[in-house]
Amino acid sequence: MTLITVVGSGRVGTSAALQIAMRELGDIVLIDIVQGLPQGEALDLNHACATLDLDVDVKGSNDYRDMAGSDVVVVTAGLVRKPDMTRLDLLFKNSEIISSVAKQVKEHAPKSKVIVVTNPLDVMTYVAYKTTGFESRRVMGFSGLLDIGRFRHIIRSRLGVSYKSIRSMVLGEHGDSMVLLPSRTYIGVEPLSRFMDEKTIAESVEATRKAGAEVIKLKGWSAHHAPGAGAALMVSAIVRDEKAVIPTSAYLEGQYGERDIYAVVPCVLGAGGVEKIIELSLSEEELRKFKESVKVLREAVAQLKL
Ligand code: 2OP
Repeated sequence: MTLITVVGSGRVGTSAALQIAMRELGDIVLIDIVQGLPQGEALDLNHACATLDLDVDVKGSNDYRDMAGSDVVVVTAGLVRKPDMTRLDLLFKNSEIISSVAKQVKEHAPKSKVIVVTNPLDVMTYVAYKTTGFESRRVMGFSGLLDIGRFRHIIRSRLGVSYKSIRSMVLGEHGDSMVLLPSRTYIGVEPLSRFMDEKTIAESVEATRKAGAEVIKLKGWSAHHAPGAGAALMVSAIVRDEKAVIPTSAYLEGQYGERDIYAVVPCVLGAGGVEKIIELSLSEEELRKFKESVKVLREAVAQLKL
């Protein structure tokens, strides 16, 4: 049986666990340092599985040794953004947390693929990569599906077409410098620009960029339903060897003219993890924005002195 560990039993971790269970992707271990919390969440999730006839076992634990044999480890541990914080404010605190979790993953699940969900996303993924020492294709960051999900939501509400017919792509930082690609956004097989004028597209891109902060402002804490759903899709792509094209924070080794940095790019995800990074031919303007976004990430990484 496939084993999936979720580190962190907060809202994002438990939401990811539920979404993974709903797809019956494997048995789940929920790990958290808070005594009783992962055990209680696991019990509740097992009851949800029983209710829904999902033949999946969920185990809660405070012991990292219980991740032994995991095929995939989803890392959600860390502090979350408060209303007045940027993702980069979380940099120092969460890098300590991710580095200590990554050491445990290296020791107890040395063959796993690692999906980092903790913010600031791309930088935390870099920290996990450096600390585990795993091949880069086995360490990746989740965020792209969240950002294009938000863009697709806005498009659907404006155009009234099914999500199934809206495809999109995003590049760069999971943060204010993200580069949404309207030029790679399709309604059915036609480009978005055939259905929306330039001004509306620009407003939709801007609303997408601010969507995470909007969620925090309204409900008082950061998003978890959408991150949990998206992380589960990445787990699915790996454990089911789907070869799905998913915007993923991946380690660049010359692609898009960048190296030794994690940034969101379209990737083929399958049993090997990030099996391929797809290099889109970008317009000059898109490439310039991508490079600016990577610069933001480099500056953040430099502060950590890894
Ligand atoms: C979000 O975009 C907080 O990064 C998280 O909702």
